[in-house]
Amino acid sequence: MSYPEIRPRRLRRSPAIRRLVEEARLAPAELVLPMFVKEGLAEPRPIASMPGVLQHSRESLRKAAAEAVHAGIGGIMLFGVPVHKDETGSGGTDPDGILNVAIRDVIAEVGDATVVMSDLCLDEFTSHGHCGLLAPDGTVDNDATLAAYAELGVAQAEAGAHVVGTSGMMDGQVGVVRRALDAAGHTDTSILAYAVKYASAFYGPFRDAVESALQGDRRSYQQDPANLRESLREVRLDVAEGADMVMVKPALPYLDVLAAVRAEVDVPVAAYQISGEYAMVEAAAANGWIDRDRAVLETLTSIRRAGAQIILTYWAVEAARMLRDRH
Ligand code: PBG
Repeated sequence: MSYPEIRPRRLRRSPAIRRLVEEARLAPAELVLPMFVKEGLAEPRPIASMPGVLQHSRESLRKAAAEAVHAGIGGIMLFGVPVHKDETGSGGTDPDGILNVAIRDVIAEVGDATVVMSDLCLDEFTSHGHCGLLAPDGTVDNDATLAAYAELGVAQAEAGAHVVGTSGMMDGQVGVVRRALDAAGHTDTSILAYAVKYASAFYGPFRDAVESALQGDRRSYQQDPANLRESLREVRLDVAEGADMVMVKPALPYLDVLAAVRAEVDVPVAAYQISGEYAMVEAAAANGWIDRDRAVLETLTSIRRAGAQIILTYWAVEAARMLRDRH
């Protein structure tokens, strides 16, 4: 019988030593909470496929934003759900549209105590549910959409957003939004580019959250899950166009992409743990099949380890509390 001379288990034997040698360490400050606000709601409303996540009223959004700040998280990402949607998504640029109003509400509530971000896309506002404007033949018209994104970006910056998140996957969107922001005097508004965004089945619950009526799919603008090299090209383009930060989305099924993106660029890299990733864990936990809190921290730690410096997650506030109570 020969005994091992080298014993990796020594560094696992107590909580104290495990804590000492922990490589990827999550901090509340790098978590960002995505939040939904719906026009005209008197009371917040649950989202069936995302247990624990709400469509906020204006009032409940303000309160929840203040709580998020109190929990010490790094930022919030706002999504607006208008009552009326139309062909061109005009509710997005209207200064009285729900998202722009909500940005102003949240800034009035929390000021500069956290980073206030807004989703810069048309799908929440269009009757057809696509991220862009439709050409007469029904395809998504890239260049017509760019002009709309420029207006959206300026409207959100005017409302006070610190960061706009270009999430529509139109070619050239970062450059167009950057130039429009600068021309309107918003040189200090940052762009978080959803540079890498896959056409994913895991967006399902989000469609409930924003009441999207999408027909068909987004495969003509979002990426094929089979491709990784294409993602490196996407991030290089976005950084060249002026992206301040880049994001990979979804997160957990694309950790290899996240690691490759992290190695490719030197701007901060974010990952979005999306609605379906959230729903999957919640559903399994509700059935008693997994330990929910452990699964939450394990997925977030894995996303951190793979290279994300910022993580958007619906568990942001809860995870911040878990991290605080952990040791
Ligand atoms: C686009 C956008 C989407 C999500 C965030 N921004 C939907 C999509 O691209 O299909 C999805 C987020 C999630 O699923 O949690 N406005």
